[in-house]
Amino acid sequence: AAGKTLKPLALGFSAISLSESDTVTVPAGYRAQLVNAWGDAVGIAGNMPAFRQDGSNSAEEQLAQSGMHHDGMHFFPLPYGSQSSNHGLLAINHEYTDDGLLHPDGMKTWTAAKVRKAQAAHGVSVIEVKKNDNGWQQVLPSKYARRISTLTPCRLSGPAAGHALLQTADDPSGREVVGTLNNCANGWTPWGTYLTCEENWNGYFVDWSNNMKPQGFNAKRYGVKESDAGYRWAEHDPRFDAQLNPNEPNRFGWVVEIDPYHPDSKPVKRTAMGRFKHEGAAVAIAPDRRCAFYMGDDERFEYIYKFVTARPYNAKDRKANANLLDEGTLYVAKFNADGSGEWLELTHGKHGLTAENGFRDQGELLVKTRLAADHVGATKMDRPEWTTVNPHNQGEIYCTLTNNSERGKEGKPGPDAANPRANNLFGHIIRWLEAGNNPTATSFQWNIVVLAGNDKAAKEEHKGNIKGDIFGSPDGLMFDRNGILWIQTDVSTSTLNKKEYSGMGNNQMLAMTPQTGEVRRFLTGPRGCEITGIAFTPDHRTLFVNIQHPGEPDSERNDPANPKAISSWPNGALGGRPRSGTVVITRDDGGVIGL
Ligand code: FEO
Ligand code: CA
Ligand code: CA
Ligand code: CA
Repeated sequence: AAGKTLKPLALGFSAISLSESDTVTVPAGYRAQLVNAWGDAVGIAGNMPAFRQDGSNSAEEQLAQSGMHHDGMHFFPLPYGSQSSNHGLLAINHEYTDDGLLHPDGMKTWTAAKVRKAQAAHGVSVIEVKKNDNGWQQVLPSKYARRISTLTPCRLSGPAAGHALLQTADDPSGREVVGTLNNCANGWTPWGTYLTCEENWNGYFVDWSNNMKPQGFNAKRYGVKESDAGYRWAEHDPRFDAQLNPNEPNRFGWVVEIDPYHPDSKPVKRTAMGRFKHEGAAVAIAPDRRCAFYMGDDERFEYIYKFVTARPYNAKDRKANANLLDEGTLYVAKFNADGSGEWLELTHGKHGLTAENGFRDQGELLVKTRLAADHVGATKMDRPEWTTVNPHNQGEIYCTLTNNSERGKEGKPGPDAANPRANNLFGHIIRWLEAGNNPTATSFQWNIVVLAGNDKAAKEEHKGNIKGDIFGSPDGLMFDRNGILWIQTDVSTSTLNKKEYSGMGNNQMLAMTPQTGEVRRFLTGPRGCEITGIAFTPDHRTLFVNIQHPGEPDSERNDPANPKAISSWPNGALGGRPRSGTVVITRDDGGVIGL
């Protein structure tokens, strides 16, 4: 799927080595500084509690502090509409909690107060940041500072809002839901709002009845089980007991729109964009100014989706875009073996998406998006994570397929053209170009950009075909405006630097020049972390990156008093619990990042 031919881009930094050190390392001539970590006050006036290293901040304090496990992120210039590159807002996702670190004695005792603190540590932070002679600092206090958590009232909008499947005893209207959670990757809109995407929401719910009755669609197709993923919320918050509240899970799994410039605005769950385990949502603007959002559903054998707004975006009147995400068409991708592809429309009444097949109306179809995608025969992918649009040719879309160890296993789908490796431990990156280079098209041409791998792996199939620095499990992915493709890795802690990943060290961030396929390592993170979140200032002289879950794999080892602790980043020799955080990267000469 070649786009326009472009002159090769020259990367302007020297590659760094693989690393096992407990630090953030960047190339010579660059520096990385911490701007914000879990527990730092976000800057609400009169409510700026200091972080306590022993984890003893209360739930109420946590509601005024940055949450845990920073993930997707975006920079919004201040004032709104400006191209300011020295002052702005950072909207930062807090994906999930490590309760072993969150409370002084971890999960040894389990109380309602701990559940409330965990809920308070999820969601999104909006912080104000400004550059001065000492670099970037948080502005404290800030009138924009805000925490959105699993305790924040949100609105449900779009075709599924008010549907019987979204109604609960607490909310008979089916339009008001408390909170957001598992906010993984993100997106943004051309009208200056932030999109936070609810990923592994199923892991917070418990349906004790799953093994006793015919299973519902949330059990069969979304992984709601008789036990949760270890969060233990249902023990103290009945909202997360799906037997008592069978529709509560249906109120999660959406893309949530937040206006960072209006701290009193209510977050809105946009049901028209479908319900799955949302990773991110990358926008492309069509010639007629309708907006297309490309979205991955991150689980093994799940799909890639596209949502196209019904109406064009209005660049002159911000308010006119307020509900643009409520009306439009949702599609799911089918990748054919001959390099062509189709966007299959998920609209009630089309392709057999009818009442006889389990979809009484568009609202039900959206709540059951995965089932609708199954019905139309979409292509089962190797865990779609981030998507990004190449600004140079205005249309090529790239997506990370992070890995899939179950591809080709007995009873599971085997390799196909778009997911060519069985036991795909290292993942790959795929790209497509829409017909006519138009984001609203219903067909495309695709090819595979790179198969990730370890050139020292024992088996040929794990070596990959990277031209340059090796990596595996690509996750975060973003083109900058100069056409550099930034790749971030999330090798799980069960394999990090072990087994087939031996010798590959900590998670990392790399730059690729798509014209040549060259890959160069730009950053390595501390031990046990994932690298995620990419935000540039408009001038591209500042880059913000998130360090998530330093010190994983488990809470006991995260306790700095434990000799087995593998990380105390960012507080180093001073000790203290490892903390997820945002680092800001600049060049000593003030130049553009990457070039
Ligand atoms: Fe939360 Fe798919 O990464
Ligand atoms: Ca991710
Ligand atoms: Ca991941
Ligand atoms: Ca993560």
